[in-house]
Amino acid sequence: MNRAPPATVVHRPANLIDPLDWNGLFERPQSVELELGSGDGSFLARWAQDHPGVNFVGVERLMGRLNKLDRKARRLGLRNLRLLRFEAAYLMKYLVPAESLDAVHVYFPDPWPKRKHVDRRLINSAFTVMAARALKPGGTVWLRTDHTEYFAQMQDVFSASGLFTDVDTPFELAQVITDFERDFNGRGIPTCRSGWRLAAART
Ligand SMILES: C[S@@+](CC[C@H](N)C(=O)[O-])C[C@H]1O[C@@H](n2cnc3c(N)ncnc32)[C@H](O)[C@@H]1O
Repeated sequence: MNRAPPATVVHRPANLIDPLDWNGLFERPQSVELELGSGDGSFLARWAQDHPGVNFVGVERLMGRLNKLDRKARRLGLRNLRLLRFEAAYLMKYLVPAESLDAVHVYFPDPWPKRKHVDRRLINSAFTVMAARALKPGGTVWLRTDHTEYFAQMQDVFSASGLFTDVDTPFELAQVITDFERDFNGRGIPTCRSGWRLAAART
């Protein structure tokens, strides 16, 4: 028997210490993919619709954007999408269970272009360690940005980690455009994208 749809797909954990239990969040135990900084959720709503056999979690710190995606998910009747209001790095470091994710999507993270703010960027060498812990062996981080200098940093830190190898973004994934991507592309700014796959077996 189908359960009634939830009144909200925003999940509020009972505490901020214990790792999340993905199976407890969803109706069906399935592989889990995370999007960090999901914004208004144009990517996640589409991708979750296209992949009912995967559970998705959107992580966003702005309540207004989270609420907008919450309404969209309920309008679309998505059973495989949950949302968390969190600081992405905190969630990755403390709340995501080890080796629990098949993929992490990070699209157009804030570029912090001023030199004095560069250490606020989400994608740095510490992030590669967090991602390697959170992903299952063979799991992938998918990245996109409009910012060429931040893209170079992303490539450098993943390459230098020695934990990941670069892979092409599949066509099916690349053609799902995010809100910010549509805006940038509309202004003639191309998307820089990459994928970094964690080694299949750990030594
Ligand atoms: C430039 S927007 C991109 C949104 C969406 N990914 C897209 O491509 O349309 C960056 C988003 O990440 C969120 N964000 C930035 N830093 C974050 C962090 N440390 N933790 C969680 N969300 C964050 C922002 O609130 C914003 O919604």
